[in-house]
Amino acid sequence: MKALVVKPGNVGVQLKNVDLKVENKIKIKTLYNGICGTDREIVNNKLPFTRPEKGEELILGHEALGVIEEVPENSNFKVGDVVAPMVRRPGNCLLCKIGRQDYCTDGNFVEAGIRGRDGFMREYFYEDEEFLISVDKEIGEIGALVEPTKNVMKMVEVFNHLKGRTLWDCADSTLNCKGAWVFGTGSEGVLSSLVFKSIGFEVTIVNRHPLPENIMEIIKKNGIKFFDSSTNMWNEGIRENPMDLAIDAAGSADVFIQAIENINYNGIIIMFGTAGTGKIDNGTFITKIVDKNLTIAGVEDGSKNHYIQAAKFLSEYGRKYSMDDLITAKIKPEETWIFNEKPKDEIKSIIDWSL
Ligand code: BGC
Ligand code: ZN
Repeated sequence: MKALVVKPGNVGVQLKNVDLKVENKIKIKTLYNGICGTDREIVNNKLPFTRPEKGEELILGHEALGVIEEVPENSNFKVGDVVAPMVRRPGNCLLCKIGRQDYCTDGNFVEAGIRGRDGFMREYFYEDEEFLISVDKEIGEIGALVEPTKNVMKMVEVFNHLKGRTLWDCADSTLNCKGAWVFGTGSEGVLSSLVFKSIGFEVTIVNRHPLPENIMEIIKKNGIKFFDSSTNMWNEGIRENPMDLAIDAAGSADVFIQAIENINYNGIIIMFGTAGTGKIDNGTFITKIVDKNLTIAGVEDGSKNHYIQAAKFLSEYGRKYSMDDLITAKIKPEETWIFNEKPKDEIKSIIDWSL
């Protein structure tokens, strides 16, 4: 079968034939693969922790939607079911043993298409059923967003833990008086905005440049504000929507500093971008972290429950509003330029294996 293959430690990606024999597993035909920053970092040799499953090569791809073609006896799934596979597989620690490999403590976990396990950018893949999530067929290609959305569901779980540090909710018990600022306008940024809006926050999405029209439209349609951080009008922005929660989907030191500067007392900062850039060279930010009683949390990956919540959110939201405009490009597997050139209007580009 054809697969998109990288050689960790090197730049580049290639569509080539791979030979795989697997028995007694569910066979899934790939419909779509989402492309994200992690994939681009791997292809450009910028993600320090990427590594092959065996040998020198790794099949790329951790975001997938597929349809079941063959099931072993006694499976709870049936041929024709649409599913999304989980990225991270357990190591040996206690948390891995209870399905919380997203909090693995011994580093022995593997991640499909990222580190130590072949990924899903191929015509077929084979899985055990415990790592598959059922996805509503009706939402079509939006189902390809289950994997990135599960990260947002984990952020919600983390936020709910952290807010318990003090009295955080509004006087009427909602979050309607609270502002969330999301840094980054890729799929993770847009999906976080939608999810945190849906739990009650007033949401502002931040970018260093004006946004392309299509992204602006989605934001407006969903009642999300936009702030252009190149204008330096932070005071006005913050007056319009106070920052109580900051979500960094960009991984930049500048963003981190901007969040610390502008966030309210008792604020919560969720850091999500893995390939950090920039540097922090001024100690005054430490004073602010302490003086404002800030809580800063790194958040990576998610549990099976987060995938299930993601599939449910996308199904309910996707049936109510059209979400098709979140998929901004559908490309053929051989169009590997997509890993080097991010389209300007990109929210989510997907590989469509039927093209
Ligand atoms: C994936 C996570 C993964 C992380 C780091 C993200 O793109 O969505 O599941 O843990 O990359 O490898
Ligand atoms: Zn991803």
